[in-house]
Amino acid sequence: MGTQIIWFMVSYQLPKLPYGYDELEPFIDTETMKIHHKKHHQAYVDGLNKSLEQVGSASHPQYISSILSDLKSIPESGRSAINFFGGGFENHRLFWETMIPNADGKPEGKLEDSIDVYFDNFENFKKVFSEKAITIQGSGWCWLVFNQTYNKIEIITTPNQDSPLDSSKNSFVRIGCLGTCILSKVSKQKT
Ligand SMILES: [Fe+2]
Repeated sequence: MGTQIIWFMVSYQLPKLPYGYDELEPFIDTETMKIHHKKHHQAYVDGLNKSLEQVGSASHPQYISSILSDLKSIPESGRSAINFFGGGFENHRLFWETMIPNADGKPEGKLEDSIDVYFDNFENFKKVFSEKAITIQGSGWCWLVFNQTYNKIEIITTPNQDSPLDSSKNSFVRIGCLGTCILSKVSKQKT
């Protein structure tokens, strides 16, 4: 999870990528991978640790995903920074972990069944997902999430580094999902 207990504070660290920087070519090029991992993700790690330090160790005994699910538990003075840096940390971590080099398969089991129910088939799902992702203005993320309230999967977008776990905004919880960093060879904006 990229964490280390130091004294009584949780200190986050940059997680190692589960593959080489060049292994997602030609879909994501090496330079883009390096920028988003070594620079962006590292900056979110540093910002998150600093933000957590500022609100005090007693306020953040849980892992960041739990904190993002309940941002109101964070003192208001640090909430916005933790939302931004914590979201950036966790969104990127999930993004790296949900990609696999040379993965040309498609979802199986329950996820496949749900995609067929709500999007007709996987090909159409990819089309709908891509269409939704490019509607993001500026920085943001596109997710396939599980909506607990309605017991169904759906596609949502979140601006900047907002996490889909933030229950103050919606009741969605992601499942091992698909995320798009708005990056690629075309755009190197900070996401
Ligand atoms: Fe990024």
